[in-house]
Amino acid sequence: MNFERNIIVTGGAGFIGSHVVRRLVRNYPAYRIINVDLLTYAGNLENLKDIENEPNYLFERADICDHEKMSRLISRYNVSGIIHLAAESHVDRSIRDPFTFACTNVMGTLSLLQSARNIWEQSPDGYHGKLFYHISTDEVYGALPFDSSLFTESTPYSPHSPYSASKASSDHFVRAFHDTYGLPAIITNCSNNYGPYQFPEKLIPLFINNIRQGKPLPVYGEGLNVRDWLYVEDHARAIDLIFHKGTPGDTYNIGGFNEKRNIDLVHSLIAVTDRLLGRPQGASLPLITHVTDRKGHDLRYAIDASKLQRELGWTPSLQFEEGLERTVRWYLDNEEWMERVTSGAYENYYREMYADR
Ligand code: NAD
Ligand code: TYD
Repeated sequence: MNFERNIIVTGGAGFIGSHVVRRLVRNYPAYRIINVDLLTYAGNLENLKDIENEPNYLFERADICDHEKMSRLISRYNVSGIIHLAAESHVDRSIRDPFTFACTNVMGTLSLLQSARNIWEQSPDGYHGKLFYHISTDEVYGALPFDSSLFTESTPYSPHSPYSASKASSDHFVRAFHDTYGLPAIITNCSNNYGPYQFPEKLIPLFINNIRQGKPLPVYGEGLNVRDWLYVEDHARAIDLIFHKGTPGDTYNIGGFNEKRNIDLVHSLIAVTDRLLGRPQGASLPLITHVTDRKGHDLRYAIDASKLQRELGWTPSLQFEEGLERTVRWYLDNEEWMERVTSGAYENYYREMYADR
């Protein structure tokens, strides 16, 4: 079958990547979507069960740090677009093991950039119709005080955690490839995502699962830190739009216009989860346990997404209350998914299946 375009999505077995893959596979039957993922602990092909047999979907198990393999894949499939989400993504892990974050996020991105550049430069129509789209985070901008300031596209980079330092470094390499070699590249910096299929080491799925099981809810410090929450499908919609309509060389911030203090978010999670479980209002409040604060815990993140709104007409579609209700309902309805993730069963199944790749 001949496809209009072949597009690689890296990290497509992860949380956000799986939503991006699903959206592209369903909305663009004329495109072939090639999900390139190493299947680390965070990669779970069960996130894509509903589309895995679609004729325009392919999975390739590969490490983005493997330059030769990345080059082979880009050549073999005549890839004209790369949407790069593969990364180590959890701040707490980066504090324990910064080295892995530098390897995957910095060297992996550099390896992928080199492959794209080499192959596209040598292709008959050069960079024409090609795009390297790098998915980044608002955490590269550092932390905001408790006031009304927001991160804009021109806020200077000031990363604090090993995770944000590695993402900032990868962003700089993407810009360097655009400015030095003319590689058509776009970067977007997004705020905290939430929704179905998020690995339960992140605040929202971890706490929903703990409330369900009556386990403690470890709130770091006083819980006063602020995050700006965006429903993951709204992020996937923004990525689709920017991939098709964004200007190469540009950066766009993506955010939910939805700031919450952690402790207030935890109270909302308890209220919704208790209600959906048929428990008395506030039954799970005693599970809140204040624990030692995260080292270097950034105070506040908040995104000004008005450029994206102004230039491409994107706004978040879901109110936070609705997004949270949908999310809690999804985790409660998909207990088996959660059970297979927390027990590690998901890893054994697919790792064996793709062991030879
Ligand atoms: P995730 O941890 O859920 O998924 C990461 C995926 O990358 C996994 O499937 C994993 O197997 C894969 N991967 C890791 N190392 C790899 C390697 N060496 N080669 C190939 N694949 C590899 O992450 P996520 O939350 O979905 O985040 C996706 C991207 O979005 C990341 O780049 C992250 O920095 C960025 N981002 C995330 C958020 C958020 O709130 N989750 C917000 C803004 C930006
Ligand atoms: P997280 O989901 O890890 O995302 P990020 O660190 O990228 O913002 O954490 C969201 C917020 O919740 C952050 O301020 C840290 C806090 N947090 C807790 O208080 N307890 C927890 O167990 C976790 C995982 C996070």
